[in-house]
Amino acid sequence: MTVETVGQLDDGRDVQVVTIGRAPGIELQVLDLGATVHRLDVTGGDGVRRNVVLGHPTPQEHLDSTFYIGGTIGRYANRIADGRFELDGVGHEVGTNDRGHSLHGGPDGFDRRTWSVERHDDTSVELALTSPDGDQGFPGEVRATVTFTVVVDRVDVVMTATTSAPTVVNMTSHVYFNLAGEGAGTADEHLLRVAAERYTPVDDAGIPEGDHAVVEGTPFDLREPTVVGEAVRSAHPQVVAASGIDHNYVLDGSGSRVVAQLDCPTTRTRLELTSDQPGLQVYTGNFLDGQRRSTSGVLLRQGDGIALEPQTFPDSPNHPEWPSAELRPGQTYTSHLSWTVSATA
Ligand code: BGC
Repeated sequence: MTVETVGQLDDGRDVQVVTIGRAPGIELQVLDLGATVHRLDVTGGDGVRRNVVLGHPTPQEHLDSTFYIGGTIGRYANRIADGRFELDGVGHEVGTNDRGHSLHGGPDGFDRRTWSVERHDDTSVELALTSPDGDQGFPGEVRATVTFTVVVDRVDVVMTATTSAPTVVNMTSHVYFNLAGEGAGTADEHLLRVAAERYTPVDDAGIPEGDHAVVEGTPFDLREPTVVGEAVRSAHPQVVAASGIDHNYVLDGSGSRVVAQLDCPTTRTRLELTSDQPGLQVYTGNFLDGQRRSTSGVLLRQGDGIALEPQTFPDSPNHPEWPSAELRPGQTYTSHLSWTVSATA
């Protein structure tokens, strides 16, 4: 385990990186900036070690980009329509940063903050953040934590939050995977399986259009392993509007369960995602626009990584019929996920 300063932001903040785990299992690097997963080095099914997540070479590039690469997202991951919602009959207006809507917590979300490293050892690191009452317009002071623990070939991620007043919380981890390795080009040849019979159609700005729809008979049907490059090249209007898949999947079942599996046939590497959340935003890196660098210095282009973001459904504060994102004093929000890496035949 090491803790090192990796750089300084233009605003003077130092950024630290904590390294946990070790070869031949997983080695994970987490930045205190945004509690960001910076590197995830694994031994592939072909025996070769590589970093399988996207990142940026310098901390300032995280702040300059809008890709949310590797970040811990809050208070509210995904979108809140028009940045408005009502809670207990009181209207709230939160910061908008995406076509008039609030995305990933507003203009200054949790992924842009310096989290405090509370505790670390060889295999685990816990980070914490206090988000003041009124932060980005959200009510209540929220204390959030995220803990990453490496157990040989698995990373467990636990996110928690408590509040001083009623509010909404929806946290996620915005890691983009490419099991052929960061910098290896697109993840189009990966096979993706998502355990969901329904998904949430959205309008042109990513806001849910109303009810969920069945995946059957559409390119959103990922119940069997599906080649990502084929799904994102379908002419389905929902795929065209989002330039790929950028949709919430209504996950089958409840409690902690395997919700998705990503396979890279060329490196024979598999990633299995476990989560206890009701939804999974599947985002095929549609807006990686070739303007920002990835960790190894190459430019990030469309489809270079796939983000699998367990969370509650988008715009839930405006959909009382969906699982609630409300958090009240005395309650603790929790979200558990894990990434397990294995070799395939
Ligand atoms: C959202 C995308 C957004 C991206 C930003 C994803 O979680 O669903 O619409 O563009 O984050 O990197």
